[in-house]
Amino acid sequence: MKLSSIWIVSSLCIFSNVVNAGIFSNRASPAGDATGKENTSNTGSTNKKGDVDKKMDYKLSFKVPYLYGNEVPFWSAGEDTITSRDIIRLSPSIPGSKGWLWSNLENDYENWMVDMDFRVSGSQIHGGRGMAFWYSKHRLPTGPIFGAQDQWEGLSIWFDTANPKTRHPTIMAFMNDGKISYASQGVDPTKRALATCHIDYRNPTSIVKMRLTYKDKILTMMLDNTSLGKKLRPCFQLRDITLPPGYHFGLTASSHNPADDHDIISFETFQLDPPPKKANQKRPLEDAKIQQGEEFIELSEEQRKKIEEAESEIKRLREHTSNMDLLTETAATMGVLFDTERRILETLQVNQLQLEAMGAPTAAKILSGDYVQTPLENPQGGNKQPSGVSVNHLKSETQLVIQRLEQQWSQRDQQLQSIQGTISRMEVLIQTMDKRIALQSNNLQGKLSEMTKDSAEAKGTMSTLIKYVLYACGLQGLVGIGAYLYWKLRVEKNEKKFL
Ligand SMILES: *[C@@H]1O[C@H](CO)[C@@H](O)[C@H](O)[C@H]1NC(C)=O
Ligand SMILES: *[C@@H]1O[C@H](CO)[C@@H](O)[C@H](O)[C@H]1NC(C)=O
Repeated sequence: MKLSSIWIVSSLCIFSNVVNAGIFSNRASPAGDATGKENTSNTGSTNKKGDVDKKMDYKLSFKVPYLYGNEVPFWSAGEDTITSRDIIRLSPSIPGSKGWLWSNLENDYENWMVDMDFRVSGSQIHGGRGMAFWYSKHRLPTGPIFGAQDQWEGLSIWFDTANPKTRHPTIMAFMNDGKISYASQGVDPTKRALATCHIDYRNPTSIVKMRLTYKDKILTMMLDNTSLGKKLRPCFQLRDITLPPGYHFGLTASSHNPADDHDIISFETFQLDPPPKKANQKRPLEDAKIQQGEEFIELSEEQRKKIEEAESEIKRLREHTSNMDLLTETAATMGVLFDTERRILETLQVNQLQLEAMGAPTAAKILSGDYVQTPLENPQGGNKQPSGVSVNHLKSETQLVIQRLEQQWSQRDQQLQSIQGTISRMEVLIQTMDKRIALQSNNLQGKLSEMTKDSAEAKGTMSTLIKYVLYACGLQGLVGIGAYLYWKLRVEKNEKKFL
């Protein structure tokens, strides 16, 4: 149980370390910078992701939910066009119906792109009539060209579902200077089409996406009838086309019999190659906030260093701990030594008592010199010792033992001193660690309260908070791994003991 839980904790924290590393590598790249310092100058036509550099204009766009109040904002609808929260049906599948949707505002962009999702569907094999996309000088009144007036000025793209020749849905592009009448008798519009495209858009399996790009006088249409824009295929490209700013986008549709539903799912207009943001467009206090954010990030860098220091200190501490084990062993050995010494002393005392019993002077008498030395070397001496051991010999031996004891004691003192030194150093270390941890948690709390103060601006700093949390987790993970390793070592040791 313990092992598995430690394992889970450590692996979790290793994972968070990895995530952490990701955050740091992210911060190194300017694109991921939360402070918004990325280079906003737009020189190329594509950005890092390979997309066209563009900016959506929501006033020239609409998508679900289409309505605000009772109308599509910045757009006008008329005739049979149905607008609701979840559908815009240009013309319903009722024979003879027609409708229109025009942008109230002019397009101001030199280069633009329109992404339109739509669906033309009907229950019959062939559709009747179709719809048209407009980029015209005026918003056109109702008329014969797919529900709009003839003799327009500008661009018209027809989605002709009832092409009388091919009987297949056909897309055609037309330009008009306001003079050509395509609807009059005897005119075959198909002969005047600037471009024709046969990608089948009727009754598709998925919504059809149209991408119309006008850039540097080149008009390009791409279409995807299968995968929602993932596989856009070129439909047509026209060069040297003049579509000045100030025109209106519009959509119209009309139905004969049989009739189709013409639904527009979304319409998004983009400005291509938008000019770089001006520096003076900053909100009030933005500079201060950015500076704050930068400071904060610098601080976190500092914190990182501190955490690294703490880590190395933990490592050192761990080494010291293993040293401590050694010291404990030394202490035990010294205890044994001490016991031996004590026993030797006791033996000496017993010896002394025995000598005294045999008539030798007491230790006190010897020290005060209050005794008569009997020359033992004299063979004629009456006081012959029964043991045959001379007092002088015993005395010198005792002195030797005492000397050795004194030596050992001084050695032991030295060792004790070194142990005490190590312990006090460790105490200092632990105190420093304590202080550091307290400092860091204070810092963290301070930053946290700052962050809660202006939580509206907390977006940028949230990631830093996550970094802190992850760091704490990482640190914990390190300690956990350490504990696990220690535990494992202990287990191995124990196993060895039993072998
Ligand atoms: C930003 O882009 C401009 C124009 O290409 C370039 O001169 C400038 O060095 C870039 N700045 C940074 C910080 O990349
Ligand atoms: C998409 O268009 C191609 C080309 O006209 C056609 O062959 C294909 O059947 C269409 N796919 C669908 C799902 O309509």
